[in-house]
This record gives sequence, C-alpha cells and structure tokens, in this order.
Amino acid sequence: MSKENIQYIAKKIVENGKGILAADESTNTIKKRFNSINVKSNEETRCFYRDTLFSTPDISKYISGVILFEETFFQKNSSNESLKEKLENINCYPGIKVDQGLEEFNKDSIETYTKGIETLDKRLKPFAENGAKFTKWRSVINIGENIPSSHCIEENSSLLAEYALISQNNKLVPIVEPEVIMNGEHNIDKCYEVTKETLNQVFNSLKEKNVDLKGMLLKPNMIVPGDKSGEKLNIKEIAEKTLACLTKTVPEEVPGIVFLSGGLSSINATMILNEINKLNSTSWNLSFSYGRALQEDALKMWAGKSENKNVAQDIFLHRAKMNSLACHGKWDTSLENE
Ligand code: G3H
Repeated sequence: MSKENIQYIAKKIVENGKGILAADESTNTIKKRFNSINVKSNEETRCFYRDTLFSTPDISKYISGVILFEETFFQKNSSNESLKEKLENINCYPGIKVDQGLEEFNKDSIETYTKGIETLDKRLKPFAENGAKFTKWRSVINIGENIPSSHCIEENSSLLAEYALISQNNKLVPIVEPEVIMNGEHNIDKCYEVTKETLNQVFNSLKEKNVDLKGMLLKPNMIVPGDKSGEKLNIKEIAEKTLACLTKTVPEEVPGIVFLSGGLSSINATMILNEINKLNSTSWNLSFSYGRALQEDALKMWAGKSENKNVAQDIFLHRAKMNSLACHGKWDTSLENE
C-alpha cells in the first residue's frame, strides 16, 4: 500500500457518517465487562460475543472499521470462520490495538507511559501481512493534584508520534489516542486546558517525526467535567468547548477525528457527538470510535445466553445507527424509541 492508500483508508473510515467499533478490550478489561453480566471470560465466550457483534446484519452501513485485540484478529468461530475475514467480507476494515498497556514511570510515580514501542515494528508485520488496515495506540493522561506533569505529556506524545511513524512505515493507518481521563474532581475548564496542552504537544511531536498527517486519525476525549466534580453535563457547553479545543490544536490536514467515549453513557456519547456535528464548520469528519458506548446495552442484553444473540444484535445495530446519525447532526431523542 502506498502513502496515498494510507490517506485513502484514513478518509474512508470517517466518510458518510460511519465510525469505528472499538472491540479491542484486553483480556483483563473484557473480563471486567463480562463480570458485570456474570459471564465467565474465556476464549470461547469472548469469541461468541465478538462474533455476535460482527455478524450483526447491516452493521457495515454504520461501522467502517473495527479495532481488534490480538486474540480476535486470528480467532475462528465454532463454524471455523475467521472473525477478521467476516469483517472484510462486509467491507469493514480490520484494525489492531498494538500498544501493550500502561506502566508507571517509576515506582513512586502515579503517572504512566504506554508500553510496547521497542518491539512494535516487529509485532506489526503479521497484522500488516494478514490484512490489517489500521492500528491503535492509547496514551493516558490523568488530572489530579499536581498532575499531569509536563514530563508525562511530553513522553506520551513522543511515544504516540514514534508509534504513528512505525505504523505508517508498515503501511497501516495509525489511530493516535491521547486520552485525558474523565475520572476526578476537576471542572470542565481544567479538562479543556489539559487536553489543549496535550494535543499541542502530540502534534508537535508528530510534525517533528514527519508523520503524514493526512494518513492518520486522531482519537481524543471530549471536553467534559471530571466525574466527581459535581458538575452536571451541559451538552451544548461540552460540544462548544470540544470544538474550540480541537480547532486550536489539530492541523487541517488530519482527515478525521474519532472520539472515544471514555465512560460516558451510551446516550450522552451520542448526544454530545450530535451536538458537536450540529456546530461543526471545520473540514474534519467528526465521528466515533466507541467501545463501551456502542457495546454496553448489547452486552447487557446478551448476558452470555446464545438465545439472546438476535436481540443483542438489534440493540447494537440501533446504537451504531444512532451514532451514525449523530455524525450528521441528525440524531434526535425521539429516534431512540425506534
Ligand atoms: O482505547 C479505548 C477504546 O478504544 C475506546 O473505549 O469508548 O469505552 O472509551 P471507550
């Protein structure tokens, strides 16, 4: 794939109101999700659940790509069908999470960096050779007393840029995810300030490393108050501040921005995306790359029972459709009862 192909795929992912399903939960994270519905997490249950999502009829009307965890990328269901090939067959791009999780800078530090850069180039080969079209790397920035430090923002930005370059060199579109975490007592303005500083640093590092900005996607948080701030979510203010922050920090060449949901409820994630798109006058396609906000309702409905498969798929399709409408600013609460 040439450079133009990377640019083409980055654009295609966010076109026509389509977005990404983040189904790349690590083994530990999916175990937590399954615990919440009293389902044992093992290879078989994880495969059944993810296969259920990917086989949802008509899902590719709203979902252009799926981020997979390593296990899923090479997994086959009980009928010996490859999950990754199922996505390819419905014209959904398979992507792969390539970071190896978080680690504290040192034993006294509460701040983290993302692991896996040393082995990244080598690890990308089997995915690139087997049809992956994009990758994802998540960095985490926490807000709290005296944090984030500039060191944390700089180190994580530099790792994100290095990752993006290695990914593009392997002809894979990087999804650059610097997540400013919403847990905490901080207000919305603090989230704005930290996200702005982080995104400025991320793009400085990307430019320093000559990453092709047209061949990547940004996956940021929305600008929201901390979950323990006591502030009520004001959808219009969140949308305005999110757009203001992005406009000040993200270069125009970036073809699209795919938000993470970060712990927002399914409805809030849709509502905010819709409001952002109603106000959007930029050249970016503003879409979604949701994990929890796309899956939560379907996961509960499935509850580990194969007889619930169809109704879980209906619920998943509905959420994907609502978020796709939100990408056009055409979602309305009345549509939720469809
Ligand atoms: O890295 C985070 C996931 O890809 C997105 O998950 O929407 O539940 O925050 P989330």
